[in-house]
Amino acid sequence: MIRSRLTLASLVLGLLLAGPAQAQDAAPAAAEAAPPSTEEGLANWQVFYEVASHPRCANCHTGPDNWPMWSGPSYGEPRRHGMNINAGDSRVGAEALMCSTCHVTLSDAGSEPDPLPHAAPRAATPWMLAPVETEWFGKSSVEICNQIKDPARNGERTIEEVAEHVGEGAFQTWAWNPGGGREPAPHSKTQAIDALLTWAAAGAPCPEE
Ligand code: HEC
Ligand code: HEC
Repeated sequence: MIRSRLTLASLVLGLLLAGPAQAQDAAPAAAEAAPPSTEEGLANWQVFYEVASHPRCANCHTGPDNWPMWSGPSYGEPRRHGMNINAGDSRVGAEALMCSTCHVTLSDAGSEPDPLPHAAPRAATPWMLAPVETEWFGKSSVEICNQIKDPARNGERTIEEVAEHVGEGAFQTWAWNPGGGREPAPHSKTQAIDALLTWAAAGAPCPEE
């Protein structure tokens, strides 16, 4: 009898002890709502960096010399745009020859991209270089990371607005469907946007130098 009471007591004790364990079982559900870790943030930044540094994006995101670049598999060695094309401080070539002279502005974003290899790429926005503050060509991951979250250099956008821009911009639409045998930007537009948003939710960590 004493023994069975003890057994009962230990059973009750066991159940009591099991209580906190059950509460811990519930913890993973709570963790799903918690912000992503720094590690996850960095992994997501890496995805976006692979996009931003790809020639389909970086060839237009060039520095204060205002040279558009020809780089990537269809161009061989990276070099400045042929025919001595320079975008000037206007970034649209207004000083010499407008980019839109050769790069046709499509009336509709859904139109076919450049059908022939080596034709001048076309988009639904007049072709031009990205603002000089958004220089990505040849820049490191940490440099692009710091630029993209700096409102003074990203068009005064929150990271959510940067993601929105990637979703809506005509040049981004072109970069993932460039036609003419060009290699598209890596991942997909949706993955790039998700990566930016997860990176932002993790506190937008940047890699070490
Ligand atoms: C005289 C015609 C002409 C003018 C003007 C011109 N381009 Fe181009 N551009 C081309 C051609 C043709 C190609 C494609 C070359 C190829 O695929 O071999 C090209 C390709 C590019 C590319 C590479 C796209 C990629 O990643 O494949 C960029 C960037 C570019 N041009 C930017 C500009 C900018 C910016 C201007 C204005 C400052 C401009 N271009 C003016 C003809 C022109
Ligand atoms: C034809 C040239 C061109 C190409 C190609 C291009 N961009 Fe841009 N990009 C621009 C211009 C011009 C702006 C400025 C327009 C604005 O801010 O509204 C810009 C602005 C941006 C911005 C906002 C500023 C910043 O740095 O935060 C982002 C983000 C961006 N581009 C991402 C991309 C990505 C990603 C790709 C490739 C998938 C790409 N761009 C390809 C010309 C280009």
